[in-house]
Amino acid sequence: MSKIRRGRQKYYNIFSHFYDLFIKLHSHNYGEETRKFLVDSAQLEKKIYPRVLDICSGTGSVVLAFGTRFPDILAVGYDFSLGMLQKAKEKDVSDKIIFLNGDAARLSFADDCFDVVCCSHALYELKNEVRKEALLEMKRVVKPNGLVLIMEHEVPRNPLIKMLFYIRMMAMGPKDSREFVKQGLSPFEKIFDNVTLSHSRSGKSKLIICKKNRRELLAQSL
Ligand SMILES: C[S@@+](CC[C@H](N)C(=O)[O-])C[C@H]1O[C@@H](n2cnc3c(N)ncnc32)[C@H](O)[C@@H]1O
Repeated sequence: MSKIRRGRQKYYNIFSHFYDLFIKLHSHNYGEETRKFLVDSAQLEKKIYPRVLDICSGTGSVVLAFGTRFPDILAVGYDFSLGMLQKAKEKDVSDKIIFLNGDAARLSFADDCFDVVCCSHALYELKNEVRKEALLEMKRVVKPNGLVLIMEHEVPRNPLIKMLFYIRMMAMGPKDSREFVKQGLSPFEKIFDNVTLSHSRSGKSKLIICKKNRRELLAQSL
């Protein structure tokens, strides 16, 4: 792992102590609505023993929401910050979620093993090349016809809030995160054939739904 990435790991370890409070202040009660929207979009109602992987799982809010909705789920929260993972484990009273420490750019799973792979409000914070590697890895480990769900903040419409949003982007993420947010669907369309965009009811978050087609799988293996 590079020196920069180790530095970011330390930053997230410290941030883990304030992260939930920060999110509560930042999302103004929209957090639950956003998570419900993400879990609904996974379309797992008819799956028996669904398998879900949450990349950059942070303090676990998304993977825990999956665990609560689907009692027979195999759910994995994956993050490179031990501090974040520790906070997530403390919240898992059912003790059924698997939390693993690792880098999003190198997932320690076999090909085609999850029904859904998701990443919530984290992709924009990765550096350009790491983000691309992470997307390729998500595609590799999701099953054919499975979904990769990427939840990101929507750019606010109000000019003042929009300016604050960009300031936060610059402060929290690498310089290219602003560029990434502006690019819309194109970084995803470079990797997946089938990409659609959806919004939470409040419009605060957007969900990029990427499907791994069987055809793409065939092309990969040629
Ligand atoms: C903004 S938080 C998002 C947490 C969570 N997904 C949520 O929606 O609340 C970003 C998370 O990504 C993790 N992260 C950043 N870079 C990573 C990497 N290269 N590999 C794995 N995790 C990473 C951080 O440790 C942090 O927990």
